[in-house]
Amino acid sequence: MSKILLPADSALLQDDFIFGVATAAFQIEGAAAEREPCIWDTFCAQPGRIKDGSNGQIACDHINRWRADLELIASLGVDAYRFSVSWGRIIRADGSINQQGLAFYCQLLDELKARNIKAFVTLYHWDLPQYLQDRGGWLNRDTAYYFARYAEVVSQAFADRVYSYATLNEPFCSAYLGYEAGIHAPGIQNRQQGRQVAHHLLLAHGLAMPILRHNCPGALHGIVLNFSPCYPATTAVADIEAAKLADQYHNQWYLQPLLEGCYPDLSAQLSEAEWPQVLPGDLEIIAQPLDFLGVNYYTRTVFSARSDGWFSDVKPTKPPLTDMGWEIYPQGLTEILLQLSQRYTLPPLYITENGAATVDIWQDGVVHDPERLAYYQQHLLATDSAIRAGVNVRGYFAWSLLDNFEWAEGYAKRFGIVYVDYPSQQRTLKASGQALQALWQARRK
Ligand code: FCB
Repeated sequence: MSKILLPADSALLQDDFIFGVATAAFQIEGAAAEREPCIWDTFCAQPGRIKDGSNGQIACDHINRWRADLELIASLGVDAYRFSVSWGRIIRADGSINQQGLAFYCQLLDELKARNIKAFVTLYHWDLPQYLQDRGGWLNRDTAYYFARYAEVVSQAFADRVYSYATLNEPFCSAYLGYEAGIHAPGIQNRQQGRQVAHHLLLAHGLAMPILRHNCPGALHGIVLNFSPCYPATTAVADIEAAKLADQYHNQWYLQPLLEGCYPDLSAQLSEAEWPQVLPGDLEIIAQPLDFLGVNYYTRTVFSARSDGWFSDVKPTKPPLTDMGWEIYPQGLTEILLQLSQRYTLPPLYITENGAATVDIWQDGVVHDPERLAYYQQHLLATDSAIRAGVNVRGYFAWSLLDNFEWAEGYAKRFGIVYVDYPSQQRTLKASGQALQALWQARRK
């Protein structure tokens, strides 16, 4: 198989469906000396945190190579490009604005517009400036207000160049992986802190929304969450309950306050001391109307009950698995989309990330990545199925345009549809990228 095939009547082939590729600032930009250090720089400098001991100092050197990267994006035939802005490239530790940093993104946005490519901007993809971490980071409520100011500065400068703003990318990862599991920056393991950080992140989102709307009334404003549908390991009642609890804890904790203005009822599981401090009015701020919800999907998660009433995830062992060890489970995408639309009144959805780290095989100058290609084929069909079942999905973004810095995994895991040879920084479109390109170009004609 070298092609991606969709049914001729698929909504994904309609003109108004948006296809794009996605990246994030810390993972591709490099040029670290030209911005403030962030929590990921600090984390990378701590021995043992990043599997290959690498960091984001150079990454894909995108800051210096952005024009060529933009040509690459344009050559794919995509409708949209999703990228994030580096907070520390915009606001300095002393509070002053880095005009050069702003100018970088404005230029990129102008060039996207000139090529008729819609810009999907994410304001926060995990790279909190270290100077804010030094003041308490997301545990400090003030950080939500600093974020609102950052959103003000960015949205004023970018003006009408942006098609869509997402305030945050995957607050689950910033809060849970950063503060409970401790495998992401800043590497803390504390349940109460994880819940508190999640609340402050959502508050930051809520504070930024009216500012974005005011400054960019023509753009779509929303947030990007990651979802992993939760399945029980066995048919035992305890495991079924464990999977339900995991869903509340990992998925609904982030979505329910946004859509319904309350947190899931976990009062039986979380002690009062573990519950976040929520001030009167916070939940009204958080539950702003959303123009869209971004859904990131990679895999499902299977849970079993623990004797203390909590859940543990059961690592998949049976193939097919990606290089990350994640189960390839395309029907999970259809299922989570259906579950969410049955459970909530949802705004329009975009699949803002979907993709896989798989093995790339170089042969005669061509990068063969049949597993990634199959992954895209299956997940595009899964998206198609959800739309046929009535879910309002308006777009799909491949993660990622480029191989890049995959957080705690470093550079060893490759998610790109474009191969990056890091020593030379040469880019090569993989076979999966060629297949997507053919699909996208055919649609654009
Ligand atoms: C998501 C992140 C993205 C990338 C993919 C593989 O959780 O948003 O930056 O690392 O996973």
